[in-house]
Amino acid sequence: MISVFGSLVGEEEIANVTVCMRSQWMGFGKNVDVFEAKYMEKYGLPTFAMVDSGSNALFMAVTLLDLPRGSEVILPSFTWVSCAQAIVLAGHKPVFCDVDLSTMNVRCEDIQAVITDKTAAIMVVHYAGLAVDMDPILALGYPVIEDAAHALDSTYKGKPCGAIGDVGIYSYDAVKNLTVGEGGGITARLPAHIARAKVMRYCGIGKSGFDSAVANAGTKSRWWEYNIQEPFIKMLPTNMAASIGLAQLDRIDSLQARRKIIWDTYQRELAAVPGLINPPEAEPGDRHSYFTYCIRAPRRDELAHYLLSEQIYTTLRYHPLHLSPLYGQMDLRLPNSETLNADALSIPIHPRMSDDDVAKVIEKISVFSGRK
Ligand SMILES: Cc1ncc(COP(=O)(O)O)c(C=O)c1O
Repeated sequence: MISVFGSLVGEEEIANVTVCMRSQWMGFGKNVDVFEAKYMEKYGLPTFAMVDSGSNALFMAVTLLDLPRGSEVILPSFTWVSCAQAIVLAGHKPVFCDVDLSTMNVRCEDIQAVITDKTAAIMVVHYAGLAVDMDPILALGYPVIEDAAHALDSTYKGKPCGAIGDVGIYSYDAVKNLTVGEGGGITARLPAHIARAKVMRYCGIGKSGFDSAVANAGTKSRWWEYNIQEPFIKMLPTNMAASIGLAQLDRIDSLQARRKIIWDTYQRELAAVPGLINPPEAEPGDRHSYFTYCIRAPRRDELAHYLLSEQIYTTLRYHPLHLSPLYGQMDLRLPNSETLNADALSIPIHPRMSDDDVAKVIEKISVFSGRK
């Protein structure tokens, strides 16, 4: 089966994990500091903290904004469930808006359509790795959270996606452009936010038990006591995850180059397939991360079933959140999100795909669409 998403790890990741295990220090530790420094340098981020998942980073991001309880936070319906869950868990109300049919990204006018006097923040998602047009959204004057889970390596007008608004998050789960198994990261415009994030991620204590005991030993007779600064859940990244991440950072440019080759091949070869709509390229001067290749197809469900019968796994990212009974907004009509729900399909793109895999995907889509 050709999978739709995937990562690529090799001997370097295995070697790093082995060193980490041999050191007998697998939990939170110095590798995290090294990963954070290297990641910030690679992507030109002003601040950065690693956490244990992108979903948890989203919850942390919303919490960091200290919005009044019960505030409305606007977000696209066409996104991953963690975006809305983060808002709810932080004590606020998710307000869903539509996206553009072509870019599948939220636009300023989509947000303006749902602004009320309770609106306190906006969450945007750089869908598939294509940068959202941020300037008009920033000009609305609300705090902006950027979900850059798909957008590691993406840029907008020369700036790294994730570091354009107030707080931004990344995901390093098993299928992201850079994987550590499960992991995430958070960046913020204000250094104070990331200083606080580093306290929050360890149950609001900040330093690990060992580090605080070492620091306290010089000054306190009871060095095992620690200062709890705020209530928060544990989101600590591990030395193991960071050691995988360090090897992934060394190979990320080649992983991205492979994704781009597959993307370019699809753009070229699928352009002539009748009825199919290919995803747009990044704007001139911006950079795409090529996380997802999402087509629109007239007989989408039939195509997906046919491809599955040919051992090609595809999926839809995402089933619009306003159609979920949990959020009670099923009467809301967001026409573009609903159109995408009916005709969008993510087809395989990841660095483990061989040229033969790519050729097979193109061939089977072409056969189904009657071109061959
Ligand atoms: C848009 C988006 N945001 C957030 C996340 C959450 O990231 P994680 O899987 O690391 O929790 C994902 C994961 O797929 C995602 O696609």
